[in-house]
Amino acid sequence: MEVIVLPSSKEIGALAADAIESLVRTKANAVIGLATGSSPLPIYDELARRHDEEGLSFAETSGFALDEYVGLPVGHYESYREVIRREFTHRVDVKAENVHGPNGASENLEDACQSYEDAIAAAGGIDLQILGVGTNGHIGFNEPGSSLASRTRIKTLAEQTRQDNARFFDSIAQVPHHVVTQGLGTIMDARHLVLVAFGAGKADAVRDFVEGPVSAACPASILQFHPRATVIIDEAAASKLEGAAAYRNAFNNKPEWQSL
Ligand code: GLP
Repeated sequence: MEVIVLPSSKEIGALAADAIESLVRTKANAVIGLATGSSPLPIYDELARRHDEEGLSFAETSGFALDEYVGLPVGHYESYREVIRREFTHRVDVKAENVHGPNGASENLEDACQSYEDAIAAAGGIDLQILGVGTNGHIGFNEPGSSLASRTRIKTLAEQTRQDNARFFDSIAQVPHHVVTQGLGTIMDARHLVLVAFGAGKADAVRDFVEGPVSAACPASILQFHPRATVIIDEAAASKLEGAAAYRNAFNNKPEWQSL
């Protein structure tokens, strides 16, 4: 796991965007794993800027969302399919038919989850998965206790997560209890994981998943087993890391030829 501490969300977004740009420039039909939440927004802003100003094209790429609420009507403003469209895909030239998300409105959620796994496999797997982390250490909607080998499935949200996400809804009562999410095993199949986190509110979760034991109690800790996981965080999110000085030293002395 590479841990990179940068001063601001803008720089974090730019560095993550560099990794995505270099992927897309070497593999035009790259498969990008898309995340919601506030953490990836600086990445999407920077990619949209590069698209507008520098001609970075996503025309041949495809995108797969991490997760989706169950029970929100199709087209609901806070459904993750809409959020991904609004925050990223409609700002660049990804073809709409190449943007996928688990179907939380399906009558048969188990079939929908399997179809989603099949669609990811049919696309050749995810090249680069963008991730945020929940204050309780979740990734996607894999709450504490999730099987480390899990695949796309239905989960019940932790109350902490419903409270954290209530800011996107009129009231907490409107936050669904159920979701469908790529499993931890699904996420681990992506060839490169790029997790971004900002702010003191994430400091405990970052300490636990970077330096704590690998445990279902902290789902993001599974990243310790990934051969190519990049964690890009600000000073506040890094404030509880014992190894912060070592991570900074490694990044400052990184060989120029070595990519993220
Ligand atoms: C949400 C999403 C996650 C996201 C996390 C953190 O519930 N399902 O994919 O990483 O919570 O969100 P934020 O980046 O807004 O803190």
